[in-house]
Amino acid sequence: MMMFLFHLSIRTFESSLRVLTTSALILSFLISQRPAASATGMTSDTDDLPALLSIKAHLHPSASLSSWDSHNSSTAFCRWPGVTCGNRQNPGRVTSLDLANLGLTGSISPDIGNLTFLRSLNLSLNSLQGQLPPELGRLSHLESLLLSRNALEGRIPGTLANGSSLWRISLGSNRLAGEIPAELGALSKLQILSLHYNDLSGRIPASLGNLSSITHIDLVGNRVTGTIPPSLGRLQSLVHISVTRNSLTGAIPAVHF
Ligand SMILES: *[C@@H]1O[C@H](CO)[C@@H](O)[C@H](O)[C@H]1NC(C)=O
Ligand SMILES: *[C@@H]1O[C@H](CO)[C@@H](O)[C@H](O)[C@H]1NC(C)=O
Ligand SMILES: *[C@@H]1O[C@H](CO)[C@@H](O)[C@H](O)[C@H]1NC(C)=O
Ligand SMILES: *[C@@H]1O[C@H](CO)[C@@H](O)[C@H](O)[C@H]1NC(C)=O
Ligand SMILES: *[C@@H]1O[C@H](CO)[C@@H](O)[C@H](O)[C@H]1NC(C)=O
Repeated sequence: MMMFLFHLSIRTFESSLRVLTTSALILSFLISQRPAASATGMTSDTDDLPALLSIKAHLHPSASLSSWDSHNSSTAFCRWPGVTCGNRQNPGRVTSLDLANLGLTGSISPDIGNLTFLRSLNLSLNSLQGQLPPELGRLSHLESLLLSRNALEGRIPGTLANGSSLWRISLGSNRLAGEIPAELGALSKLQILSLHYNDLSGRIPASLGNLSSITHIDLVGNRVTGTIPPSLGRLQSLVHISVTRNSLTGAIPAVHF
């Protein structure tokens, strides 16, 4: 009898759990059926504003971003200097952030990874420090990453390769160290890989021979060693590769030179 009751209560527990799960499903369905945010243009206040405020908080002097303060409408931030938002399909989603050459110091907030509609990021010609946040890998629409001429340090995160839309990576004149991540070979749309004047070491990854769209590779002024991998010889689109001022040895692959 005890046994039976025990089983019964387990069964009751299980079925009420099932009911709970079902109502949770219905609830989340109902939530997702709220009036489409983009249709009303009202959503985006909850989307990209916190990330922009976090980006601002990581930068100094914030005086140059002093006009980043009006919250009087849900998409007011779309008119902040340097911020561009999407068209009617994605109103209030930031698609471009251009804060180049503003004399900024500070670092790049990891929350930048929340601007998931970002296509273009230009923070070049500042004095930004700290590391490239691995969260940049969450920006799957990112096409252009321009961070050259700052004081960024640490490694180039392999997660960048997750940004399958990237066609231009410009990280020259920083203090980036460590190896060139082999993962970058997965960027099938990448045309320009500019990593000059950093502190990169190790070998050039053979996987760069998979960059089927690449036209320019610039590694000048690093501490890269070894040889240019023969795999780079199969890059039909490559028109320019600069590797001087490194510690490379051996021959240059025959195909292009
Ligand atoms: C960014 O997204 C992460 C993960 O979803 C979340 O934890 C974090 O609070 C978000 N940051 C901001 C500033 O909204
Ligand atoms: C919102 O604030 C900005 C700047 O502070 C101002 O130019 C604009 O007219 C305001 N818009 C509304 C709807 O109040
Ligand atoms: C990025 O900023 C630099 C410096 O202001 C500028 O010369 C360049 O044209 C910008 N590039 C893009 C794609 O916005
Ligand atoms: C890679 O991209 C996917 C899809 O955009 C995303 O869900 C995931 O979080 C990204 N991974 C990293 C490490 O950024
Ligand atoms: C990328 O390149 C490496 C080394 O050349 C190779 O082993 C690998 O199979 C390639 N991956 C793809 C997806 O082409």
